[in-house]
Amino acid sequence: MKVISIVGARPQLVKLAPIAAAFARTEHQHVIVHTGQHYDADLSDVFFSGLGIPDPDVHLGVGSGSHGAQTGAVLTALDPVLEAEQPDWVLVYGDTNSTIAGALSAVKQHLKVAHLEAGLRSFNRRMPEEHNRVLTDHCADLLLAPTAEAMRHLANEGLAERSRLAGDVMVDICLRIRDAVLAGEHPAPALPDGIDPGAPFLLATLHRPDNTDAPDRLAAIIKALGELPLPVALLAHPRLVAKAQLHGIELNQGSVRVGRPLPYAGLVAGVLASAGVVTDSGGLQKEAYLLDRVCTTIRPETEWVETLEDGWNHLVPDPHELSPQKWAELAVRSAPTTPHGAPYGEGTAARRVVELMEQATQRAAVPAQTAKAAHV
Ligand code: UD1
Repeated sequence: MKVISIVGARPQLVKLAPIAAAFARTEHQHVIVHTGQHYDADLSDVFFSGLGIPDPDVHLGVGSGSHGAQTGAVLTALDPVLEAEQPDWVLVYGDTNSTIAGALSAVKQHLKVAHLEAGLRSFNRRMPEEHNRVLTDHCADLLLAPTAEAMRHLANEGLAERSRLAGDVMVDICLRIRDAVLAGEHPAPALPDGIDPGAPFLLATLHRPDNTDAPDRLAAIIKALGELPLPVALLAHPRLVAKAQLHGIELNQGSVRVGRPLPYAGLVAGVLASAGVVTDSGGLQKEAYLLDRVCTTIRPETEWVETLEDGWNHLVPDPHELSPQKWAELAVRSAPTTPHGAPYGEGTAARRVVELMEQATQRAAVPAQTAKAAHV
């Protein structure tokens, strides 16, 4: 079986790590195509080196742009690559512009598409990721769902037959790196200046267009973070830095201490050292949950609804609309006393993904052979 993985943005590199390792333990050929959607070393290179992912076989170098320009640039650059490679499967990850472009390029060339992290829904059509994931699910041949909830969404959309429960590959990588961090195998993370890892602090990220792009909203969220009673280590995505500069908003205010994005092991170590997380990232909500830290999510909804149970994760659409006291109580609340279950699986999802792709390849081969026999 020949599989081409198409990745481009930071969260996809995290998911690629366990998948590449699982394929490396088989006879299958696994080709990695990096679209170049993320190109900063902090968002890309450190994930390859830090997670032991083989270098990409092909780099498309598309870079940033409007949604249409970025998606179109990936399509244009990817078409000849897929045509030359003729893989058995094109494996796309998550919900970025690289995901939908990879899926479209493949289906238009009659190549089979498998979608990792299928079936997630926010039901918020303002999110570019929601269009990307819905459209990718509906054109893919094999839908690899991380959770039972995702399976339900796919069934509701008439996609049950193509859907399989694979579990969440982020558990595989998160738990592996957690164990390595706890065993002292990674250097201490480069937290922002002014954050003492030995004293309580909150770890924060913010990058969604709905939070960063409107100056009033961004200013209000940063002000709310600055008013929290604990130091806030804000690991700033380049979009956040760019938007703050554009609108003249000072990120380093009050409790906030700004630093650069961390490599994956640094992020895991940072979450483990923290008293809790404040974020609008999908992945970080789940990493906080897996690492037993409370999370406060600055969004009106989440795709990872399982994290909300027992208050491990709490949604706060507009922190600045709460009283400062209520907001502080929420963000620095203590962890629930009841341990949570394992709705995302036990850390064996990548192996399951390979098995499911093998099974789907065999299933697809049967009608072809039957048809050939009938012809003879
Ligand atoms: C993308 C994904 C989002 C994911 C996020 C993880 C889409 C629609 N969104 O959002 O789902 O959660 O990645 O980080 O695909 N930039 C740089 N250097 C880089 C990359 C980006 O400076 O290496 C800046 C550019 O100004 C760019 C902006 O960040 O315009 C946004 O980058 P883009 O890739 O369009 O989307 P993200 O916000 O990163």
